[in-house]
Amino acid sequence: MAAGPLLNSKWVEGYARLGFDVLTYATVRSRMQPAHSLPNIRYVENRGQVAIAARRLPVDGATLAFSLGLPSMEPEAWRKDVRRAKERLGPGQILAVSVVGTPEPEAGREAGMEALIDDYARCSVWAAEAGADAIEVHLAVPNLLGEPGQMVYEHLPLAAQILYRIRTSVSVPVLAKLGLFRSPRALHETATKLAPWTHGFVLVHGIPRRVLDESGNAAFDGSGREWAYVVGAATYPVCSRQIEEMLAWRKAGVWNHAVLAVGGVSTVERAQHLLQEGADAVLVATAAFSDPLFAMRFRQAAATSAVA
Ligand SMILES: Cc1cc2nc3c(=O)[nH]c(=O)nc-3n(C[C@H](O)[C@H](O)[C@H](O)COP(=O)(O)O)c2cc1C
Repeated sequence: MAAGPLLNSKWVEGYARLGFDVLTYATVRSRMQPAHSLPNIRYVENRGQVAIAARRLPVDGATLAFSLGLPSMEPEAWRKDVRRAKERLGPGQILAVSVVGTPEPEAGREAGMEALIDDYARCSVWAAEAGADAIEVHLAVPNLLGEPGQMVYEHLPLAAQILYRIRTSVSVPVLAKLGLFRSPRALHETATKLAPWTHGFVLVHGIPRRVLDESGNAAFDGSGREWAYVVGAATYPVCSRQIEEMLAWRKAGVWNHAVLAVGGVSTVERAQHLLQEGADAVLVATAAFSDPLFAMRFRQAAATSAVA
């Protein structure tokens, strides 16, 4: 399960029982943050450069836009709850905890970056102390201290510093969550520069799009919410291309880390394809909402093909 749907230990336990083995606890922060106002998740049709809110489930599988604001419980609450989640896993199941730093743009650029790095590390240490088997470092978030529109993973010195600080502060594996790349060259450069400080990459977080309703108005109310992440079935062609690019780059022998594939995996066949291509694990978010038995059907298909 990718970060997001598993909001607390009850969700982790439920999906663990449904046969999902790599479970990512939804992103946590060093301070409480409420979610954006409702609606903050909508079905959409992905139409080129924009996504249009749909009244009903699109026929080609669930595709969503979300604008949640990365909410987090109070640290005292999630630190206890991560411990509970860990206790509820079965043998061989893995709990990753997704962490994000909370920027303080008013601190100024240099001090703000240092504070952000510290904040990512603080959350990671707390998550590891609570029993996380791995830390997923959410870098596919806007870099409020950088150029407009830039994401943290696109500011390589900052992303490398965050990973370095976490890697030297916790003893569990560190995974970098990345978003969409503007070019294969940007993907190669990022993977090469970040590889020394991470044990693996999780990609693709989602596709940023303007999300409109059928009348052309913003589908999510409130300033700064015109753009949201589109995820789910319709994003597979773009996401799988980037995942395959990353796997090809690993094959080239520059580094040898885990690649956890995410983005638009809405069928067992898609999951099988990415594993055959070399992904170490395949994660789902949207499909697990609409199809909670996904992992069971995946296992059944694997068992059937083993017998055949
Ligand atoms: C409702 C929802 C909430 C999400 N929340 C988070 C989150 O807290 N942290 C994060 O890194 N990704 C979050 N994601 C993104 C997923 O982890 C994943 O990268 C994305 O949905 C692509 O996978 P999919 O096509 O299988 O949905 C969320 C996705 C959804 C649908």
